[in-house]
Amino acid sequence: MRIVVGITGASGSVYGYTLIRALYELGIETYVIFTSMGEKVLEFECGVNPEEIKKYATILNNKNLFAPVASGSFKTDGMVIVPCSMNTLGAIANGVGDTLLSRTASVVLKEKRKLVIVPRETPLHLIHLENMTKLAQAGAMIMPASPGFYHRPKEIWELVNFIVARILDAFDIEHEFLARWGEKH
Ligand SMILES: Cc1cc2nc3c(=O)[nH]c(=O)nc-3n(C[C@H](O)[C@H](O)[C@H](O)COP(=O)(O)O)c2cc1C
Repeated sequence: MRIVVGITGASGSVYGYTLIRALYELGIETYVIFTSMGEKVLEFECGVNPEEIKKYATILNNKNLFAPVASGSFKTDGMVIVPCSMNTLGAIANGVGDTLLSRTASVVLKEKRKLVIVPRETPLHLIHLENMTKLAQAGAMIMPASPGFYHRPKEIWELVNFIVARILDAFDIEHEFLARWGEKH
């Protein structure tokens, strides 16, 4: 299995960072594309240097539109953008593909592969909502970073894992990240 992970400059890079480590543990071939703000926010919020991600995945340069993932002929099982800024969300929703991240998302949509978008902003204005609607209509799955509390989390990582588990579920990846509702707690 082969997945592309996009990390943008929205708050919540801990979700992307945790997902990448989970995919590594699960033995899944992972490509990561950072926007420049994505790198900065990861460092700011998590104290993690983006170079560290090389331990877990192949990092692709967001400026390199020659990378294989920019072409539909390079087969992947899809892409997740986590966290997704309103800036990147707006670009993809409007067909802009001038970075490797936005171009890859566009390719994933046109090839009818799975595109999971984890937007992060609050509150949302009408243009944000319209862009999300457009993406949903084009086949993307909009998965807000909005963890539930019914598993009675006590620590932040339990909230983070909640979202990471839902992303893995979206790709039908077997995991033991979080007990499911109705199963053992
Ligand atoms: C600490 C920090 C947190 C941010 N959080 C958000 C956010 O939650 N959602 C959002 O849409 N933008 C957020 N931004 C603003 C984006 O980083 C900014 O719009 C940027 O242009 C996004 O670029 P990108 O889409 O290329 O990553 C944040 C910026 C900073 C510095």
